[in-house]
Amino acid sequence: DFIHRIKGLNGLEKKLEERLNISNVIVVPGNYDEDKLILKDIGKASAKYLKQIIRNDSIIGITGGTTMAQLAEEMPEQRGETDILVLPARGGLGKNVEVQANNVAAKLAQKLGGHYKLLHIPDNIGKEALDALLQVSEIREIVESIKRLDVLVFGIGRADVMARRRQLSPEVIQELKNRGAVAEAFGHYFNTKGEKVWESNSVGLSLVDFENLKNVIGVACGVSKAEAIVAICSLKRDMTLITDEGAARKILELV
Ligand code: G3H
Repeated sequence: DFIHRIKGLNGLEKKLEERLNISNVIVVPGNYDEDKLILKDIGKASAKYLKQIIRNDSIIGITGGTTMAQLAEEMPEQRGETDILVLPARGGLGKNVEVQANNVAAKLAQKLGGHYKLLHIPDNIGKEALDALLQVSEIREIVESIKRLDVLVFGIGRADVMARRRQLSPEVIQELKNRGAVAEAFGHYFNTKGEKVWESNSVGLSLVDFENLKNVIGVACGVSKAEAIVAICSLKRDMTLITDEGAARKILELV
């Protein structure tokens, strides 16, 4: 808090809330693009904030990615059991098992002394296979619970980086470029205005679900994610953004 004051981060947070037109911004000192250790501070700050807003029986949705994995890592271990339920917000992605939403959800649940359910669905499977999976009652049940999340915490990515990580075909990557995709969040790709331009073939949180959720926390750091953050913040006024100073200062140049 002392560092916050001397670095003028409170003023920066207020300015960002106004410019991005969202209800709450938390800024962590530093720039992740220059110092990878900042991810740890981002993880700590978001774990602390999440802890403050959840109850003993909250249903929490979380996405995959390195940022969310760090949040789970930094969440202090709770003593005793809770009725907290943690769900992955979308089906899986990529090859790195460590940072898949399922693993992040399981880890967070374990830290909070709660329970988790998993969505065993790869990203970008064919439509027929997807429809068949949605007939399975266990999967349908989880998808229904995702619509009723008390809290969603999600990572924000650059569209180009995420498209590569998801190993989308060169045709789809080109199409994303043509449509002006700059941001990715929960399997959806958006242009600078926050218009959805593409969605991965998977199940879980939809854009409509997202708009209806009450407690939404987006987390992303590094100057290079500034444009993506701006796009995502235009989706919803009532959200919290947790970011670093590098991204924060860059955002002020953009909006
Ligand atoms: O879904 C993943 C996020 O959009 C970004 O991932 O935290 O590894 O940058 P990241």
